[in-house]
Amino acid sequence: MMMNAAITGWGKCMPPAVLTNADLSTFLETDDEWIVSRTGMHERRVSHVPAIEMATVAAARALACAGLAAGDVDLIVYGSCSNDEQVPNSASGVQVRLGAAHAASMDINTACTSFLYGVSSAAAMIRTGAVRNAVVIGVELISPYMDWSNRGVAVLFGDGCAAVVLQATDEPFGLLGEKLGCYAESRQALRVRGMGCTYANRGLTLGDTQWDFDGQEIFKRAVHGMGEAAAEVMKKCGVQASDVDLVVPHQANLRIIEAVVKRIHVPLDKVMLTVQRYGNMSAATVPVALVEALETGRVTPGSLLLMPAFGAGLTLCAHLIRWGQRVTPLGTTDIDLPPCTETALDMVNRIRQVKASAVERSGAALMAPTLAETLGSR
Ligand code: ACO
Repeated sequence: MMMNAAITGWGKCMPPAVLTNADLSTFLETDDEWIVSRTGMHERRVSHVPAIEMATVAAARALACAGLAAGDVDLIVYGSCSNDEQVPNSASGVQVRLGAAHAASMDINTACTSFLYGVSSAAAMIRTGAVRNAVVIGVELISPYMDWSNRGVAVLFGDGCAAVVLQATDEPFGLLGEKLGCYAESRQALRVRGMGCTYANRGLTLGDTQWDFDGQEIFKRAVHGMGEAAAEVMKKCGVQASDVDLVVPHQANLRIIEAVVKRIHVPLDKVMLTVQRYGNMSAATVPVALVEALETGRVTPGSLLLMPAFGAGLTLCAHLIRWGQRVTPLGTTDIDLPPCTETALDMVNRIRQVKASAVERSGAALMAPTLAETLGSR
């Protein structure tokens, strides 16, 4: 019999420091009215710890929720495009901190869809019998590599993390199906220059980034991609939009979400929204929204959940999940982040100052055009 993969544990780890629209307007030419009317965002979080620490706390909470010990974990999937380091991988950092001695560990980077691509990968391994218990994490630490001088992107993103436990079950619930895809012809619409091997050992100042970002192109492709993927997975699984109890979408912009659910004929009151409080946390967005939907009683036994997402690449997907009976945690844990002693604005100003003095020392703009040319436009 085909094994199903069901979510049996969930936990989030949100860094406590809040960066408001008013904070952003202290150093950018922007204002609350522009940000709220264009994006729906009021505030976002800035982390005082590395991403692996957020991920460890979220994963430990998800394991406690599932009633599983770290030693029971067969697989850790770390979905993110903001790894603390490139080598070694980040999942192994979570593994060693959890003490999950019997797990395999892998990173997945499809930008904002990384968590859901991770769910698909873990569920596929559960179905083949390769693993039984998996932890899938969506985490993002964008604040250190944000270009804080670019108001077109700096207002949009935030840090955060959540994780789920996926377990093999022969009950008829869990991941019903998914549609995965990528509009690769638009991959140049979102590129962060300054991270990765193209930029390593070239005399560039460490940590400097420049975002190439075509907001309107992404907006259009996101609405189309999430709408198509959602329609396709519903058709594949033989369900109607009216069967969906809750949409838990990627949250890059409130207007994108409104356009997507209008396209698939689901009313906005069936949508879990966090974008107002957390902005776009890339891979962390969907799992954080899922955890908050559970915490606020919006997921009930047997609920049908639709999760459409898109991210840089431009990757896209939509997942359908039939929830099981249990919507409350089996256990909790005391594990937590260390206290944060700085404000979010102080942390951002520190990043900005480090960058400004690095630019001054190097005596030049850091992203040499020749390097951009080397990479080309594809
Ligand atoms: N404050 C004030 N003005 C701003 C700001 C700001 N923060 N940012 C841009 N502007 C100005 C621009 O300079 C431009 O001015 P101009 O017309 O004089 O040149 C104008 O506002 C831009 O207006 P529009 O492009 O019409 O703004 P739009 O309504 O398209 O909203 C936005 C822009 C929010 C970026 C929107 O296009 C969007 O949400 N796109 C998708 C973003 C996204 O999803 N990103 C992540 C994708 S992948 C991932 O999640 C990793």
